[in-house]
Amino acid sequence: MRKITVAVDGFSSTGKSTIAKQLAKALGYIYVDTGAMYRAVTFYAMNHGFVSDERFDELAVVKSLPKIQLKFVLSGEAGQSDITLNGENVERKIRTLEVSRQVSKIATIKAVRDKLVAMQQQMGKEKGIVMDGRDIGTVVFPDAELKIFMTASAAARAQRRYKELLDRGDKVTYGEVLKNVEERDAIDSNRKVSPLRKADDAIVFDNSDMGLEEQFERIHNFALRVINQ
Ligand code: DC
Repeated sequence: MRKITVAVDGFSSTGKSTIAKQLAKALGYIYVDTGAMYRAVTFYAMNHGFVSDERFDELAVVKSLPKIQLKFVLSGEAGQSDITLNGENVERKIRTLEVSRQVSKIATIKAVRDKLVAMQQQMGKEKGIVMDGRDIGTVVFPDAELKIFMTASAAARAQRRYKELLDRGDKVTYGEVLKNVEERDAIDSNRKVSPLRKADDAIVFDNSDMGLEEQFERIHNFALRVINQ
């Protein structure tokens, strides 16, 4: 069976990673969460005092890029991988609301994007990959055979993210999460470098009112159709 590249882009908290992971598993493909890469760089920048609510030292982030080593390693869960930053597994530490609040700023830096996009293209060289992010179908793999653009209402997305954070024991309010979702939408869509936009040939997939099973079934079918054509 021929191997394809699947690009899953869309707004934050649309469930891209859940679907992308399931799809990769079903097809026996590699799954790459590119948001984790931007989050890990952000985590590094926060720890070094380069970015916070009050401060954003873009030059310092760019200068430290050569010192930032990212790798995906197999995690305890079958078929899943965790991201490491300079050898430390930061998978959990990058999923906080604090990191979410700073990540869009880091993702506007061209040098950061250039470095991460080059890594992503390298990972997908052999195809057989499902990659999720914001610019996968437009910039990283413009020739991907299947492109999905996931969307859902801001309220539905904030509710999902809020539940996720509560489940892990984080103390946040729904209002804070909704505000973060809306702010990230605005920054991600309006930044100069690789703004979030649908590729012309992407399939728009609105899952505001769709359960996981139905989403997976539909997207799996799209993939099988492309693979077998
Ligand atoms: O998918 P996520 O919410 O974990 O992504 C975190 C942030 O990273 C998101 O607000 C925008 C940025 N991002 C990006 O600019 N390009 C990507 N390919 C993936 C994520």
